Amino acid sequence: MALQPRQKRNLRKTLITITVLAVVTLVLTLGLVLGLRSKKNSSTTSSSTSQFSEAWNSPSEFVLSKNFSITSTPTVRSYEWTITEQTAAPDGLARPMLLVNGMFPGPLVEANTGDRIVVKVTNNLSKGTSIHWHGMFQNGTNWMDGTVGVTQCPIPPGQSFTYNFTVPNQWGTYWWHAHSQSQYLDGIVGPLIIHSPEEPQLNNYQEDIIMMVSDYYHTDSSSLISWYLSVDSQGTEPVPDNGLINGRNSFDCTLDSQSLFPTGLPCTSNAPKAEFDFKAGTTYRVRIINTGAFADFQFSIDNHTLTVIEADGIDMQPVDVQRLPIHVAQRYSALVHANQTVDNYWVRATMNTNCFNVPNPALNEFVTGIVRYEGASTTDLPKSVDWTASAWAPRCLDLTLDMLKPYFAQPAPDADVQVFITASFQTIRSDHMNLGYINETSWSPLPGNATIFQAQRGVTAFDPSQLIVTLNTTGVVEVVVSNFDEGSHPFHFHGHIFYVLGWGDGAYVPGKTQLELTNPLRRDTSTIPPFGYTVIRFVNDNPGMWAFHCHIDWHMAAGLMIQFESLPQDIKNFQIPPEMAAMCAAT
Ligand code: C2O
Repeated sequence: MALQPRQKRNLRKTLITITVLAVVTLVLTLGLVLGLRSKKNSSTTSSSTSQFSEAWNSPSEFVLSKNFSITSTPTVRSYEWTITEQTAAPDGLARPMLLVNGMFPGPLVEANTGDRIVVKVTNNLSKGTSIHWHGMFQNGTNWMDGTVGVTQCPIPPGQSFTYNFTVPNQWGTYWWHAHSQSQYLDGIVGPLIIHSPEEPQLNNYQEDIIMMVSDYYHTDSSSLISWYLSVDSQGTEPVPDNGLINGRNSFDCTLDSQSLFPTGLPCTSNAPKAEFDFKAGTTYRVRIINTGAFADFQFSIDNHTLTVIEADGIDMQPVDVQRLPIHVAQRYSALVHANQTVDNYWVRATMNTNCFNVPNPALNEFVTGIVRYEGASTTDLPKSVDWTASAWAPRCLDLTLDMLKPYFAQPAPDADVQVFITASFQTIRSDHMNLGYINETSWSPLPGNATIFQAQRGVTAFDPSQLIVTLNTTGVVEVVVSNFDEGSHPFHFHGHIFYVLGWGDGAYVPGKTQLELTNPLRRDTSTIPPFGYTVIRFVNDNPGMWAFHCHIDWHMAAGLMIQFESLPQDIKNFQIPPEMAAMCAAT
């Protein structure tokens, strides 16, 4: 019985391999053209000495400085960023990337609760871009949310835009990324950490470090999107070529030719992996962020238990796990005690390949980094072995609700309104495109416009490409998401934390399905199981246009997104900086 889906998958695989082969030729030609063009550009604009750099951000960027003072006295944190296209080789294969200040991953944004964050973004790309501050509430500054087509038009090439917002009432682990097309896959991504003296575990660790895990593609996202959103893909998502920890990993260059999308680009095998210095006796807060496009990971550190204390910015009652499943866009903090023999240990981030429709022969799904204790060899590879505990369910699901209990308990508020939505993929258009649908709508961004401007003018009939749920009054909204698809979908809600009352297989039956109401998990990204349901609630107290979407990048590009229009009367009074309307005119 267990063999049946596997056989089906294999059948689908052969079909798809044929089309992939045909498309590879196309992509190669495209890649050649793009490659030639970027070479031309770089000979005129690049001042760097080598033809490409690895572009790795300094490892020290991911070790939070002890000089950062965690206080409740507000201050302004200012950053200046320039986004450029340049060739970089995070895993040894040199490809065109889109980088912030020439670094990958991009710069750390670090602040205290109550601070103001000001980031001047200069776009030196040949296309528009934007930055989204994933998990920031943006209460009163909806237009600083950075979502193209919803809260802004792209920052035009050659222009600057300054994001400016406060962080009055949240802390924890977040990230920032481009929210324009699929550009974050090309490198526009980085960590965003908010501290507070009120964090319950603050005195229970001495060091604070970031481990960003992500899948990684050797082909630029626009080529992959063109393929995925074509009839050729038959709805099969591009499967990553590699995975990274803090932007690093090695790649066996001989495998490039076996990739679903071979690149033929210059490549050096054995690029270095991420390394972390541990000191025996020290307790580390490890902030794990899945900044990838598609893959769900199982994260672990050999011999070291992970004590989970935070999920998506919400403090959790400490819970011990050996492996941590983490889906796209989710974050966890875990306390890790350096209480093992002085030695080197593997950090493992293993991609759950069960959730890919086809294999990518170039992919080594066992992504690793190295923890090095002070006093152990600084060069030897670890000899540590993986935990024997079995992996979590192979279906790319979250930690179960009984494991994740908020530290500051809150009962679920009663719902005033219920919204039922379904997520599916369908081939119903006359062009046979396989697109993502929420109810009957497949989202695509409005060209040269954003729904925030329409809502501000009082528009109530939005374009058919936009599924907008208008919430006129403050109150509590319950959203039941039913997943009519074989894949799991990590749904993210902009501008909010939501209560996760329940998720499971099959249909949600109101009144019958057991819900957790006493102290439900609160977070901003929760995974809807394949052919299953998730029930969430949120407080409608944040005026604006808020995207609610599957964070698997391919699925969002295929339209798996809706918007909540919260408190339209307040949106009409938004004082949106006039240069934002000008950005629409320029695109
Ligand atoms: Cu990480 Cu729509 O966002």
